[in-house]
Amino acid sequence: MDYNKVLDKVSTPCYVFDINNLKNRISYLKSKFNKEFNLVYAVKANSFIAKELDEDVERFEICSPGEFEICNNLGIDHSKMVISGVYKDYESINKMVSNYDDIGKYTIESVNQYELLKELATKYNRKLHILIRLTSGNQFGVTEEELKDIIKNNDNDHFVIDGIEYFSGTQKRIKKIEREIEYLEEFVNSIESELNFKINEIEYGPGLPIYYFQDEEFDEDSFLDEVNSLLSRFKDKEISIESGRSIASSCGYYLTKVSDMKSNKNGNHVMLDGGINHLVYYGQTMAMRIPHFDLLQANKEDEKETYTLYGSLCTINDIIVKSLEVNKLHLGDIFVFKNVGAYSVTEGISLFLSRNLPNVVLYKSDGEIIVVRNNKNTYEINYPNYE
Ligand SMILES: Cc1ncc(COP(=O)(O)O)c(C=O)c1O
Repeated sequence: MDYNKVLDKVSTPCYVFDINNLKNRISYLKSKFNKEFNLVYAVKANSFIAKELDEDVERFEICSPGEFEICNNLGIDHSKMVISGVYKDYESINKMVSNYDDIGKYTIESVNQYELLKELATKYNRKLHILIRLTSGNQFGVTEEELKDIIKNNDNDHFVIDGIEYFSGTQKRIKKIEREIEYLEEFVNSIESELNFKINEIEYGPGLPIYYFQDEEFDEDSFLDEVNSLLSRFKDKEISIESGRSIASSCGYYLTKVSDMKSNKNGNHVMLDGGINHLVYYGQTMAMRIPHFDLLQANKEDEKETYTLYGSLCTINDIIVKSLEVNKLHLGDIFVFKNVGAYSVTEGISLFLSRNLPNVVLYKSDGEIIVVRNNKNTYEINYPNYE
């Protein structure tokens, strides 16, 4: 990627999402899974790339009214939407069910959600396609007994129960995925034999991991082969793989500038114009680990120095990397942090200190640069309006 082209258009801090990378990543993931498997993009990872993925994924997992508005306004086909989420409020779901008869699927995450969807489907005479989310013991989904009861008691002409959704967490190891798939297989068998009910589909979020730091090694090829072979056990079922992190991470770059420097008895301190409000690396503890990055310098010196990189948040927690040895730094040098395509842009504590939200840029395959969000102030959001 030509960073200078981006910096001609926008200032730091900014995110750049490289669409070519994204497409290559999707092709890679698809090449690793059976071609019949659906890929479901979890929009929460990064809504800015959703439209770019429209031709590449079979579905979008949407977990809030806000995510629905984004996808709806982007023109994403309703039939590709899975309306999910632990909190489904009456007003939003009422709006969706009444306005649209073509939404792909709804998930049921509690008995109350079952009642809500049943009421609305009956009220508007809709036929809703349903995935029932099975809990892994946390606050999401229903228990095995509740799930079976919903299937047993579904005398409702308005529900087509397609199958089960299961997601227990992110950044999984293969052993955990193996245990989960074995568990799901057993549970599905028990439903089918006890209730004489066919589970047609399993939408499973494996929590595919991304290894963010320079000291890590990951044999992703073998890992994905293993996930594929585990999921291939479900012979007569439609399999949908939910993923956010693994799809989106590698397309993202975060550019942030050296804006102040000082030294004291504890070392060399470098202040960047971004910070942990914009940059979230899963598993980063005490800034001890070094993520993959490039360093853009107008004046490059061979001499090395060791620095700690801080963000601009006026909190001692805003440390990005500790004790980093790099070429001697100067004001205006720019760090490009990599693999930030998932969650950084949506999960950062972006309102803290009323700092601006960064520019967001899409870097298209043909080199075109589209600024899809200009930096936005947050002081208006944090402002108490007395009028
Ligand atoms: C239901 C569900 N599916 C999929 C995902 C995406 O997880 P990941 O980014 O680990 O792929 C999440 C993330 O929270 C989720 O809640």
